[in-house]
Amino acid sequence: MTPEALRARLLAWYDANARDLPWRVGPAAHRAGVRADPYRVWLSEVMLQQTTVPHAAPYFLKFTARWPTVSDLAAEDDAEVMAAWAGLGYYARARNLLACARAVAKDYGGVFPDTEDGLRALPGLGPYTAAAVAAIAFDRSANVVDGNVERVIARLFAVEAPLPDVKPELKSLAAGLVRDERPGDWAQALMDLGATVCRPKGPLCDRCPVAEFCAGLATGEPDAYPRRVAKAPRPHRHGVAYILTRGSEVALVRRPPKGLLGGMLALPTTDWRGMGWTDEEARAAAPAAADWRPVGEVEHGFTHFTLTLRLLRAEGEAEGLIWTPRSGLDALPSVFLKAARAGLTNLL
Ligand code: ADE
Repeated sequence: MTPEALRARLLAWYDANARDLPWRVGPAAHRAGVRADPYRVWLSEVMLQQTTVPHAAPYFLKFTARWPTVSDLAAEDDAEVMAAWAGLGYYARARNLLACARAVAKDYGGVFPDTEDGLRALPGLGPYTAAAVAAIAFDRSANVVDGNVERVIARLFAVEAPLPDVKPELKSLAAGLVRDERPGDWAQALMDLGATVCRPKGPLCDRCPVAEFCAGLATGEPDAYPRRVAKAPRPHRHGVAYILTRGSEVALVRRPPKGLLGGMLALPTTDWRGMGWTDEEARAAAPAAADWRPVGEVEHGFTHFTLTLRLLRAEGEAEGLIWTPRSGLDALPSVFLKAARAGLTNLL
């Protein structure tokens, strides 16, 4: 059971089963000499961090239709790009995306560096993305390890130590399987196997091309890997969101550039804290003096906490707000879109 035998099996499976993805040059075209566009590979990799393929794909198509090259994206206003990113979450990624696009456009003549180290030197481009772009766009033998690949490796080798501390060990086991031959296809084969066969729950081991190599399967409990340390439950926070209308327009604010949802459009809200808000406190913190009526509440889950937002709605006026037609609410992050929809629909 050599690494070579395992590689041959998985690459053959990829040749027959590669997913057809809008940023991908499939194995047959790749063999025929077609190369992936580094801009599209980079953009897809940034979008796919923390986001599934079905959720990211429409955003990828929208971005590449609107900004076909990295220089087009670099020339766009921040607010337009942040609005187009709305709904993908993790908004620091969008700010890093723009920082990187502008560096490529300005300092590299719109051409991405073609090595892992060169990519790593770009602002806002982390080690995972550098490895992925180097392998997939430039066929460099980079070790590309995302959450899917960690899971595949933890199962293949039945790694007993738990995440997150075991990450470096998983990365070094993955490195032992990388070769100069077909590095981009190899990275994508591991990702596809993780997404479609070696799934987080209910892996389809009877369809797995490398089942006979899998120490996790041999234990009888492949989905017990990767092991994890028990997570502390997420804390819960409370806030009040204000839906101030002026006819058909809704008042928005822009959040400060740093921190959670930084730089994004938002509904005006109170702080989000552990304790709930009394009616009196909620009215005192409102962005305008108006006849505020409760219109329900929404729940939202973030990575590190869950949130209940009570909704208050009023018709009124105030300075310093961004008046936006209802059709413009799509530029809001999911939590505020959810709150705005609920607050505008619920009866006063
Ligand atoms: N997940 C992250 N990057 C991916 C890629 N290039 N192909 C498929 N799934 C992915």
